[in-house]
Amino acid sequence: MHPQFNIHSDIRQANTLPGNFYNNESVYQASKEKIFARTWQYAADASDVAEPMDTFPFILLKNYINEPLVFTRDKEGITRCLSNVCTHRGKIIVEKPGKGRMLTCGYHGRCFRLDGSFKSMPEFEQVAGFPSEQDHLSKIPMGEFSNLLFVSPEPNDSFENYFRPMIDRVGWLPLHELKFSAEHSRDYFIDAHWALYCDNYLEGFHIPFVHPALNDALDFEKYEYEIFDYCNLQLGIADEGTAYFDIPEGAPYYGQKVYAYYFFLFPNMMFNFYPWGLSLNVVQPLAVDKTKISFRTYLYNNSATPDIPTIHQTEMEDEAVVESVQIGLQSRYYKHGRFSPTMEQGVHHFHSLISQFLK
Ligand code: FES
Ligand SMILES: [Fe+2]
Repeated sequence: MHPQFNIHSDIRQANTLPGNFYNNESVYQASKEKIFARTWQYAADASDVAEPMDTFPFILLKNYINEPLVFTRDKEGITRCLSNVCTHRGKIIVEKPGKGRMLTCGYHGRCFRLDGSFKSMPEFEQVAGFPSEQDHLSKIPMGEFSNLLFVSPEPNDSFENYFRPMIDRVGWLPLHELKFSAEHSRDYFIDAHWALYCDNYLEGFHIPFVHPALNDALDFEKYEYEIFDYCNLQLGIADEGTAYFDIPEGAPYYGQKVYAYYFFLFPNMMFNFYPWGLSLNVVQPLAVDKTKISFRTYLYNNSATPDIPTIHQTEMEDEAVVESVQIGLQSRYYKHGRFSPTMEQGVHHFHSLISQFLK
């Protein structure tokens, strides 16, 4: 049994998550089912299964959830996410991206349709009560936003309820144009708990202390926060001489010089919208003190060059503080902290959700 964590709903009275949350192996393991299997996770780009009969296998949160899944697109153009584990003896069915009218297991020849239903199996004529419901491939709930595909094994709430606040605020952008740029994307690895990386992302409090270049680009006095059910937004306002969005009349924040929208979707995704495109950060737990963060860059048609040097420099500065905190939290003298009511609403929201999901 792992310890319980309670975060007071009033930020002025609340304590932060205690140090042992970030060091406890059983809490780390429990978070797989209690947090990650119940929330929405980035899985693939829509372009990975763009054509009829495309199949695209992947492992959901490799080294953590480890769920083998496959996207299929049928003749009618319907995309589905299915279990990629054969219902006979459990072999992975689709081993690499490809095309096919059916999914055929390479072990003993069991066939499934692209909607996951069982089709045929050699040498099974004498099996009683076969095929049954259990012989079909399970379907996994999925959702699409801005050419990105998301799945959730057991969602605690709808895709709509997670993504709506973001769609309402950046829906005016030409999101359908966004295309993945491998050249401008990369993975980072840090020696820290996944939630510490998120904690750091969730406040702009540290910007003047940790990020001198970013601080020059932003008007820190005008930095804003908005909190939704499973999502929150930090709004960076451009300082003199920095590029900003041309927000159309009628859209939220019209008239403000927005430098970047920083959306966090619980528990592990960051959608950073800049005038040149989107930087999606997917935080993937590897061990209690090891985390991989994929920085995926998406660009508009004819877009300006993404400002990767500033993003990389900011990331290096963030990694240094996060890894320092990971060491600090192992101290016998650190129990927990408190929140700044003006600057740490995002962190308070995140800790509150973690404590609710772990109950
Ligand atoms: S494991 Fe797939 S057919 Fe036997
Ligand atoms: Fe930072």
